[in-house]
Amino acid sequence: MAAANALRAVTAEVLVETAESLPTICIIGLGYVGVVSVGCLAERGFKVIGADLDAAKVACVADGRSPIVERGLEALLADGVRLDRVSATRDVVQAVSASDVTLLAVGTPTSADGGCDLTFVRAASRAIGMALRDKPAGHCVILRCSVPPGTTLGVVVPEIEAASGKKLGQDFGICFSPEFLREGSAVADFADPAKVVIAVSDARAETIARQVLSAAGQPVLITTIAVAETLKYVDNIWHATKVVFANEVGRFCKALDVDSHEVMRLFVEDTKLNLSPYYLKPGFAFGGACLPKEVRAAMHIASLNCVELPLIDSLLISNEQQVAAAQRMIVDLAAPLRRRTIGFLGLTFKAGTDDLRESPMVELAARLLRQNLSVRVCDPNLDSGPHLAAQASHIAATHASLAPLLDALVGGSALATLDSVMADCDVIVVAHATEAFRAAVRGRRAGVHVVDLVRLFRDVPAEATYHGIGW
Ligand SMILES: NC(=O)c1ccc[n+]([C@@H]2O[C@H](COP(=O)([O-])OP(=O)(O)OC[C@H]3O[C@@H](n4cnc5c(N)ncnc54)[C@H](O)[C@@H]3O)[C@@H](O)[C@H]2O)c1
Repeated sequence: MAAANALRAVTAEVLVETAESLPTICIIGLGYVGVVSVGCLAERGFKVIGADLDAAKVACVADGRSPIVERGLEALLADGVRLDRVSATRDVVQAVSASDVTLLAVGTPTSADGGCDLTFVRAASRAIGMALRDKPAGHCVILRCSVPPGTTLGVVVPEIEAASGKKLGQDFGICFSPEFLREGSAVADFADPAKVVIAVSDARAETIARQVLSAAGQPVLITTIAVAETLKYVDNIWHATKVVFANEVGRFCKALDVDSHEVMRLFVEDTKLNLSPYYLKPGFAFGGACLPKEVRAAMHIASLNCVELPLIDSLLISNEQQVAAAQRMIVDLAAPLRRRTIGFLGLTFKAGTDDLRESPMVELAARLLRQNLSVRVCDPNLDSGPHLAAQASHIAATHASLAPLLDALVGGSALATLDSVMADCDVIVVAHATEAFRAAVRGRRAGVHVVDLVRLFRDVPAEATYHGIGW
């Protein structure tokens, strides 16, 4: 303990020497995020002014006490006040006026209609604007609230500009940086965050945001403001999905008298397929010999045991909606065309296999046939030999609605070379991401529509005839 205090004192001394060159930071909102930021940024040597409308929170922080329960925070605030780095006020405008950088950390609760209530964000943005009215150019505003995509540039900046009469980029900079700290370990998370993501309006804002938010040993991930805003929601949706998934696994296992914790202990050991980027790129529906079959079997076992698993139950529904979305796109694109033949680049359930079982592309193509469109398929792993005939008769035995498509494949009338598909079809559906298909799409005839189910290109082509399924 004594050693830790001594170390903190030494660190504080070192930081005192550099404090002169650091910007003064105003933090609006002394809730869980704001007050942790006050303590942690003060520890890094910044002068920090906390601003909140809540008199009790302001009094606490000004006194070097924590208004919330958070391990390690009280000591940081006490040190901050003792070293004259931390102050607090209810005068938000004055706090912004006296600082170089403003961190916005007000609440964004659920509104009456279930959306995100931006009342506090709007009010705080107006206060920032009022302060900027009489300030020289150069202030940087860093939004740390979780907000709907579009809020930073569509709400915060217009409010600041309207209240200040100043212009983004010319008079002030903006940054959106999602906050990833977890209550209970917030101080430790501030020093060692899950990631640091910064999205800015200009280079100067980036320099300031890096100075304030960088964490030792962590890369700073730079992206666009809309992506950063969306990322924060997606992160939290994912965390919620993990919790619900694990709990459904628990209910499933309990009904079968299987130890769920032993199952999940081994589940997380798999960092190749389970806890990894695998299966996490938006694209087309899942299929193949295993996933749909096993999801169905688990649903069946659960229902036999009277266990409700709404998340797992929703998987096949959502998967079917992905097929329906592609079907709608293709039908709409084909409707005004003279030649109504749809070309598929890839039909097996994924590239590199000849397996057609439960391929969502087979389902999609069969639906298009039923809507009076014709289909031509180029798939390097399919040829109209006995293997395809055997697969087709096996599939048709349980899925009669697929028989017309399967017959056309086996008979050879639906299979074609890449060149002839590209020559004969005015809508191309790309289901496998291969170099040959990428080159064919790049070199396609003018006016030919592409429906991309696999994100062929990292940078989405800005062409009116290119259509991504989820981008
Ligand atoms: N709590 C978390 O663990 C966490 C983690 C990451 C991100 N976030 C996000 O950070 C933001 C803040 O969350 P929180 O939990 O700290 O909120 P909070 O509700 O605990 O605190 C918000 C504070 O803002 C103050 N405030 C509201 N309007 C104000 C105004 N106009 N001027 C000055 N102060 C004002 C309130 O009095 C309150 O003290 C939210 O968008 C939240 O979604 C929270």
